[in-house]
Amino acid sequence: MLGNFAYSNPTKLYFGENALDNLAGELEKYGKSVLLVYGGGSIKKNGIYDKVLTILKECGKNIVEDAGVMPNPTVEKLYEGLKRARDGKVDFILAVGGGSVCDYAKALSVSVHCNEDPWEKYYLRFEEPDNEIIPVGCVLTMVGTGSEMNGGAVITNSNQKLKIGHVFGENVFPKFSILNPLYTYTLPKYQMVAGIYDIFNHICEQYFSGDDDNTSDYIMEGLMKSVVHSSRIAVNNPSDYEARSNIMWTATWALNTLVACGKTTDWMVHMLGQAVGAYTDATHGMTLSAVSLPYYKYILPYGLKKFKRFAVNVWNVSTEGKTDEQTALAGLGAMESWMKEIGLVMNTAELGVTEDMLDGLTAATFIMDGGYKVLEKQEIRKILKESMG
Ligand code: NZQ
Ligand code: ZN
Repeated sequence: MLGNFAYSNPTKLYFGENALDNLAGELEKYGKSVLLVYGGGSIKKNGIYDKVLTILKECGKNIVEDAGVMPNPTVEKLYEGLKRARDGKVDFILAVGGGSVCDYAKALSVSVHCNEDPWEKYYLRFEEPDNEIIPVGCVLTMVGTGSEMNGGAVITNSNQKLKIGHVFGENVFPKFSILNPLYTYTLPKYQMVAGIYDIFNHICEQYFSGDDDNTSDYIMEGLMKSVVHSSRIAVNNPSDYEARSNIMWTATWALNTLVACGKTTDWMVHMLGQAVGAYTDATHGMTLSAVSLPYYKYILPYGLKKFKRFAVNVWNVSTEGKTDEQTALAGLGAMESWMKEIGLVMNTAELGVTEDMLDGLTAATFIMDGGYKVLEKQEIRKILKESMG
């Protein structure tokens, strides 16, 4: 049965080759002092920085720059950005980059006017903001996280070996996001395919919960088929505009709250992946690909009906002459072949996980209860061990 929910998404999207033409009109709505947040320099190399800076200047903005947001943004970087934003008395935050830059911008937005330590308040105590929130806008350059249209803001505390995502409410969603598929052309293949798997897994995390006749599941099967189809084209020809734009659009819909409606949702692959990320600083999508199959094979008996449906509806597996379990396993087999075909990392050893980390990784994995099996700690350890390859 479809659960109870409220749905609304306040982020305005501008999609396509000319999407940046809408930036000036959006910026006019906000104050004069803009914090321009970006990563390690890709936007300077591919020219996006110059284009955005020109628009900010034409709009008469005072620009405060906050560069060097790293993949898997850290709490130390957040503290540094906080000082910069406070000193510059910023009215608006413009994030130009991937999920890390967008997430970081949202974390800053709730922290600048917060009198408490943001790590403790938002990431350890999971409290909601009760102070002024600075509005955020995004110009997206890397596809995968859905951060452009959601309230997620994942921050890593390397000292505490914790990578934690706070999913904030609508008041923290970006006010607008600019999605130009051409901006993703300069992504290295490793990042492109990591992003593709991130999209696919966001859908899996929401799909593998519940067994009912839920419209969200039909939407998700379509999204999964689209991402698999487009990924094959993009891997062979990274400048295929149709494939790159479909991937960008699918990423947004995979995690902008719509398909979660009426579902309990799982998120255990992300919890395992985030623990791996906290220990290795590996690329997010690859931490997910490396733990996925051991996890899904483990929970398959508890969600057999849905794994069978996944095999048939997403991977066109024939049921003829097969038990339900054989059909379900064939679905995971087809998924594994696709993952290898596009070049994903299939084990955590390749990401730097060693045997001595297993206890720490197990402790750092948060247990969620929306999937087919609420895992015990020793089951988590077993899956993590299996994921090493
Ligand atoms: O820093 P620069 O120089 O810009 O380089 C980045 C970075 O090294 C590069 N890049 C981005 N756009 C590029 C480009 N290189 C060339 N051309 C371009 N157009 O790509 C690298 C990775 O970027 P990053 O932003 O880290 O990747 P992604 O978008 O995958 O974001 C990952 C972060 O998002 C979090 C992850 O945990 C991780 O911290 N997530 C956020 C979620 C959310 N908000 O809902 C959900 C996700 O599950 C995820 O957890
Ligand atoms: Zn993800």
